[in-house]
Amino acid sequence: MALLRKTIAGALLLTVAASAQMAWAAGKSKSGPPVIERGRYLVRITGCNDCHTSGYAMAAGKVAEEHWLTGDRLGWKGPWGTTYPANLRTFMAQMTEKEWIDFARTAQSRPPMPWYDLRAMSTEDLRAIYRYVKASGPMGEAAPAYVPPEQEPQGPFILFPQPQK
Ligand code: HEC
Repeated sequence: MALLRKTIAGALLLTVAASAQMAWAAGKSKSGPPVIERGRYLVRITGCNDCHTSGYAMAAGKVAEEHWLTGDRLGWKGPWGTTYPANLRTFMAQMTEKEWIDFARTAQSRPPMPWYDLRAMSTEDLRAIYRYVKASGPMGEAAPAYVPPEQEPQGPFILFPQPQK
């Protein structure tokens, strides 16, 4: 009997969490379940938007949330070539939670992506970021492809100094 009661309570909780997530994703509710709120908070304070959301730093963070993490066409050019902040909304839409956590644990992207910060995050925080991005849904196009050092990028870029010889 006690077990049955626990199972029913568990199932109810899951249903509540799932419908809260759906209502939030459909834009019907301003605040989502705690794990998604945590993900939104982490994305803001750990700086992902600063690079992965176009114009975010210039607008002092005042970019509509629906555009968050859709990547940027502004390149970062340095001795590593030219890199573009990926569209994390389409990136994570194609991944399971486990794939994301495995990716983050072993990530080693080119500069200026702080991959070492991803590696240092707790599994709980990585999960919260994933749930938030996943609930936001895919949006926008892929960022431009990486350009090797010997090639000139097409669009605008930020230029890093070459190392002193
Ligand atoms: C200083 C700018 C900057 C910040 C801050 C930043 N990124 Fe990145 N990120 C990049 C760039 C540039 C790339 C592309 C690197 C490359 O091409 O190797 C990238 C790549 C990635 C990738 C790899 C995508 C792929 O297709 O392989 C992931 C995942 C990612 N970033 C997640 C994050 C998350 C999560 C945060 C916040 C914790 C974050 N980034 C913060 C600039 C940044």
